[in-house]
Amino acid sequence: MSRTGAHRSGVFVSFEGIDGSGKSTQARALAETLRALGHDVTLTREPGGSTGAEEIRRLLVEGTPDRWSPETEILLFNAARRDHLEKTILPALEGGQIVITDRFADSTRIYQGAARASLRPLVDALHDLAIGVEPDLTFLIDMDPEQSLARGLARQSGEDRFEELGLAFQQRLRAGFLELARAEPERLHVIDGGRSQAQVSADIVAHMQTWLKARER
Ligand code: TMP
Repeated sequence: MSRTGAHRSGVFVSFEGIDGSGKSTQARALAETLRALGHDVTLTREPGGSTGAEEIRRLLVEGTPDRWSPETEILLFNAARRDHLEKTILPALEGGQIVITDRFADSTRIYQGAARASLRPLVDALHDLAIGVEPDLTFLIDMDPEQSLARGLARQSGEDRFEELGLAFQQRLRAGFLELARAEPERLHVIDGGRSQAQVSADIVAHMQTWLKARER
């Protein structure tokens, strides 16, 4: 399988965080703000973001927690990501757009690679083989799992397969994401998600604008 490191002139931004952390709302808010400032923005999500990947999403987020083994999950997430990359992300980046995705490969590193089983070497090997692309900038919305779990399950979206794994699982996820941010401070920017939506949003927009200005230099 060919790697996907094609020429990119756009900016690739991802949002990460535990379930119910508010990252989808924040990704949408950032997209709207950047559009209002005149930027060309594609807002997308994982698993999903292309027709084929949205079909795979249903297999992944619905059903009981033991529906798939962690290994099978890793393969399905990578299949969905590859399609998302080919059909949505890379064409938009090549067109010079800002692509904002609600989750990307860090979610697989943490959900499948650390929190459910120690499968990080498999996650990394498959990522290198099939994906080979990282965001330029990642916002990690950090928050207390008790607060976010209450929010997430309250939505009752029918997509609760991972949320049903419980509080201890969400705590492992939080620790995993924070560890990732410590390992890659250049790419991952940690945002305190335990504040009002407006405060969190203002923080994100300020950091994004500073980042875009620094990139122009
Ligand atoms: P969402 O609630 O952010 O739309 O994501 C759906 C669920 O899929 C969420 O519980 C996190 C999980 N997930 C993984 O386990 N691994 C991944 O690689 C991705 C993208 C999502």
